[in-house]
Amino acid sequence: MTKTQGHHQAVESMQKLTITIDGPAGSGKSSVARRVAALLGYSYLDSGAMYRALALKALERNVPPNSDASLEALAKETHIELKPPTPECEAVGAKNRVFLDGREVTNEIRTAEVAQAASQLATIAAVRRVLVAEQQRAGGGGGVVMEGRDIGTVVFPHAELKIFLDASPEVRAERRWKEHQEKGEAFTLSQVLDEVHERDRRDRERKVSPLVRAKDAVLVDNTAMGIEETARLIVMLAGERQKEAPVCAAKKV
Ligand code: DC
Repeated sequence: MTKTQGHHQAVESMQKLTITIDGPAGSGKSSVARRVAALLGYSYLDSGAMYRALALKALERNVPPNSDASLEALAKETHIELKPPTPECEAVGAKNRVFLDGREVTNEIRTAEVAQAASQLATIAAVRRVLVAEQQRAGGGGGVVMEGRDIGTVVFPHAELKIFLDASPEVRAERRWKEHQEKGEAFTLSQVLDEVHERDRRDRERKVSPLVRAKDAVLVDNTAMGIEETARLIVMLAGERQKEAPVCAAKKV
C-alpha cells in the first residue's frame, strides 16, 4: 500500500461529522460554512434558503405573512431542494442552488423583500416544524456543514461539532455594508448598523427557536479574524472531534 492510499483509507474510515454553524446576521456563517465544507469534502446546506424559498412562494401566492394556518399548509405542500452550486458559481461565492417545487429560485430568493418575508414566517412554530423535518432529512447522513440560527439547538441537537459564530455588531454591519456596496445598493454604514441591531433583537427575542448559543457550542468570535482563518480553526476542531468519536457509533438526529 502506498503512503497516499494509506492516508485516504484513514480519512475514509473516519466518521463523517455533522457540523452546525449558528450565529447572527453578518457573523460570516455562510462564507465560513462553505469553506469548512470544501476543506473537509462535506456537503454545505444553507437552512435560511429554505425559509426564503417558502417566503417567495407565499409572496407569489399573496398569502399574508401573519396567516399561520395558510403558511403551514403551504409549507406542507411545498418541495424545497438544496443542491451544490455549479463550480463557476461557487468560484464567485454562491451558496446552494435552490429549487422550489422543481423550479430554480437561487437568485430570486436573495432580495430584501424575500428576506423580510422569510424572517416573518420563521416566527411561526408550525412552519418551522415542517422545515426542520426537511433539514433533518437533508443533512441526516452526516458529512455535512449546516448553517442557520437553530441548527445546533433544534435541528441537530446531537451534532458532534457545534459552532456559535459571532463578531461585534460594528464589524458585522461593515461586512453587510460592503456587500451592499458591491451590489451597487446605496445604504449608509449607520443605516446598516441599525438594521443589524434590529435583526439581532428579532432573532434573539422571538419565542420560537430564538437564536441562542447551544450549551455545548464552541463560541468563535471572528471580529478580528478572516474567513480562511476562522474556517481552518473549525476544521482543526473537527479533527479533534473525529479522534474522539467512536467510528461505528449509530447516527442520532
Ligand atoms: O440566513 P438567512 O438570512 O438567509 O435567513 C433568512 C431568514 O430565515 C432569517 O430572517 C432567519 C430565518 N432563519 C431561521 O429562522 N432559522 C434558520 N435555521 C435559518 C434562517
